[in-house]
Amino acid sequence: MLRICYNTDMDKKELYNTLSAQARALLQPGFGWLSNAANLSALIFGALPGLNWAGFYLRDGSVLRLGPFQGKPACTEIAPGKGVCGTAAAEKKTLVVPDVHQFAGHIACDSASNSEIVIPLLVNGQVWGVLDIDSPLLNRFDETDRAGLEELARIFIAQSF
Ligand code: SME
Repeated sequence: MLRICYNTDMDKKELYNTLSAQARALLQPGFGWLSNAANLSALIFGALPGLNWAGFYLRDGSVLRLGPFQGKPACTEIAPGKGVCGTAAAEKKTLVVPDVHQFAGHIACDSASNSEIVIPLLVNGQVWGVLDIDSPLLNRFDETDRAGLEELARIFIAQSF
């Protein structure tokens, strides 16, 4: 059985290395993207400190629809180019938002959120969905988080498609 621990003294890069190893073991092609997405959101939400939401929005035609997640119930549909998620999908690049209240068009699903990171998930160059992670802390996500979460997103894509 996989044991997931968070040691507050652990260096952040080391934590992401551990999480990547756990993701490679936990996410398997035979399980399918839905189970892999559910487990990756649980892995991230349980292991990273200071989060209030972690999960997926999946592209459905031109909109993004709520997928597997951990946290409070969230907005079910995001219009094209709207919010942090829609912007990251439109630009096909990771967005790190240190203070969501300063991001024009931010969609507040949980009023506790103060910072956010959204990683677009590309399959064959097309946006399949986004990985969205929220924190009640201001400026929660730095370059180490970006690199670590982008690696987790790569593992998810590689193991799911
Ligand atoms: N804040 C996001 C909406 C999704 S929730 O954070 C779960 C956005 O602005 O796109």
